[in-house]
Amino acid sequence: MKDRFSLGAAQLPNKVLYAPLAGCSDLPFRSMSCRYRPGIVYCEMVKIDALVRNDPHTYRLLDYEPGMHPIGAQICGSKPRMAASAARIVEDLGFDVIDFNCGCPVDKVTKDGSGSGMLKNPELIGEVLSAVTAAITIPVTVKIRAGWDEKSINCEEITRIAERAGAKAIAVHGRTREQGYKGPANWDYIRSSKKAANKILVIGNGDIFDAESALRMFSYTNCDAVLVSRGTMGQPWIAEDILRSLSGQEPMERTMQDMKRALLEHFDAIIRYQAEKQALLDMRRVGCWYLRRCEGVKNLRMEINRAASTSSVFDLIDQFSWESTQMASDSAFAASES
Ligand SMILES: Cc1cc2nc3c(=O)[nH]c(=O)nc-3n(C[C@H](O)[C@H](O)[C@H](O)COP(=O)(O)O)c2cc1C
Repeated sequence: MKDRFSLGAAQLPNKVLYAPLAGCSDLPFRSMSCRYRPGIVYCEMVKIDALVRNDPHTYRLLDYEPGMHPIGAQICGSKPRMAASAARIVEDLGFDVIDFNCGCPVDKVTKDGSGSGMLKNPELIGEVLSAVTAAITIPVTVKIRAGWDEKSINCEEITRIAERAGAKAIAVHGRTREQGYKGPANWDYIRSSKKAANKILVIGNGDIFDAESALRMFSYTNCDAVLVSRGTMGQPWIAEDILRSLSGQEPMERTMQDMKRALLEHFDAIIRYQAEKQALLDMRRVGCWYLRRCEGVKNLRMEINRAASTSSVFDLIDQFSWESTQMASDSAFAASES
């Protein structure tokens, strides 16, 4: 299972993929992620209309460094011809894979039929995918939710449509649009998409937070790869953990010194990429992801949130007595999540 993952012309090194995360999977996040060698890392979703009108902010979301291959971009929109133009731009930027977003639940995205709004119009998903696959040579994937709501589950139908339209893989998030992020993901929908698939590969997504849940996803759904989303936040090494587990190796012990080192490396990537004010905001947000996985760090968290400059955040991390803290047990982390 640890083997390479072939997506048409793109040979991904393995089957543990890191999802697009709007507002999170920026360049510093991805540079941390790539250290642990996931099969691919996706950039945050970009809107097709913003790409074709050359919006500089949108292009910045697609920044990447040469060492980050294989790298994926995700486009969001509902117009086939415009999607094809946006896909050509993405291909020209050197991306290895392009994904089409049919899962974003946010009202301002769905109101024009984009994101999970596409689930209401499966034929249009086919039209967009056909237009995109005809326009470019890199592999095309699509990411969906199980359906708009419990009464309109249509992931199997969309799997068949995506296959006919030439998509190489479909990532199925086992929640409905109506569900948002509430409640557990229902992996039965991923399993039924896999049964409906003939050639198209099925990627399981939803509630993979550690190696154990990833292995369960593979065995329960028979999926071809897993897509880790929130599980990557504050533990960029999750791919390494999953891959070790898939090959029967013991888990790596993650210590508080590893946490400290990762925080410093991530913060360093942030200050190299962002101006001071934005960097400080990002450090607070990213710091929370890591520190909620630790016990005995409440004061440090509060001090980081009150820090007036990025250099004082580095001082706080350096001066903190890490030896008096420990990694949170799974149950403590789960409690802090809910
Ligand atoms: C903060 C945040 C941002 C997200 N951004 C995107 C996105 O840009 N594109 C996308 O397809 N899904 C996005 N998602 C959905 C996730 O990729 C994933 O499908 C969902 O979180 C379920 O997986 P999980 O339970 O492993 O987190 C986002 C989710 C979160 C929490």
